[in-house]
Amino acid sequence: MSLRREIESLEKEANELIKNADSIESLSSIKVKFLGKKGKLKSILKSLGKLSPEERKEIGQLANKVKEEIENLLRKKEQFFREKAIQEELKKDRVDITLPPSWIEVGSAHPVVSTLVEISQLFISMGFSVAEGPEVEKEEYNFDMLNIPKDHPARDMQDTFFLNNGMVLRTHTSPVQIRTMLKQKPPIAVIAPGRVYRKDADPTHSPMFHQIEGLLVDENITFRDLKGTLKIFLEGIFGKDIGIRFRPSYFPFTEPSAEVDISCTVCGGTGCRVCKDTGWLEILGCGMVDPNVFEAVGIDPEKYTGFAFGLGIERIAMLKYKINDIRLLFENDMRFNHQFKGIR
Ligand code: PHE
Repeated sequence: MSLRREIESLEKEANELIKNADSIESLSSIKVKFLGKKGKLKSILKSLGKLSPEERKEIGQLANKVKEEIENLLRKKEQFFREKAIQEELKKDRVDITLPPSWIEVGSAHPVVSTLVEISQLFISMGFSVAEGPEVEKEEYNFDMLNIPKDHPARDMQDTFFLNNGMVLRTHTSPVQIRTMLKQKPPIAVIAPGRVYRKDADPTHSPMFHQIEGLLVDENITFRDLKGTLKIFLEGIFGKDIGIRFRPSYFPFTEPSAEVDISCTVCGGTGCRVCKDTGWLEILGCGMVDPNVFEAVGIDPEKYTGFAFGLGIERIAMLKYKINDIRLLFENDMRFNHQFKGIR
């Protein structure tokens, strides 16, 4: 076979191989095969020496042309593979920007929590600090030391959940008074927010609800201090125009005791269904700490006096946000909860 023919068939072979190559790797083996040091073209060029000068020039030019051509084809094909790889990568990562985004629910404070925080902040601004106690409580702290002995009818006032181990689910936050006074000597100014439990369930009663207890003990504390403190508190929550009245009442752990009413937040005092036509709403219990309670915790009732109060947070939240059924607060129906977005 003449060298020219050889070169031409080599060109054809290379063309064919490059056309059918399926990867960058196979391109590099084609490159070695034709253009490498031991490649086909090299061995042809080596034999150029045997030719006449004219032939050498002609064949040499042809060989160079074919070499360039093969290089070109290889380069183009390589570029093609690189481009293809990039396109595949892009396809894999493609996001459909026309898809609607998944919705992120923005939460909001529960009305009980925001009411609790608001009340706490008011008392904290008056110098009270926050105390806590357990929800599973000693009967002694929930009752006995609060001047409610075993045979006392007041035990029936609060429908208690008794536990097998002799403990109770606390029926009020008042045992935190005992815990605080056992630990701390006067002056004492604490509020104690938390969950309490009673066997009770209807539109205005839930077996679990929240109370805030208040306790202030020092020398020369009088009923006047109690009235002033509660006035600041109630006007802070319900506004300066709210009517406030104290009614004599009874609690075993306070003497004297009172219940506090505010003018009806629905009718403003003229009488409606919510206030049962009285114009007033009962809002909290309070009184001067009973000397028997001081004695139970080892505080001298001759030296110290104090006041205490307790209120239901749900009740305040219901009046504040005009909620007519306490159970709505605990059902976690998002249609209800979302109405309180934006309250602090
Ligand atoms: N513990 C009482 C209740 O749950 C409320 C109260 C607290 C009354 C403190 C007087 C003093 O009903």
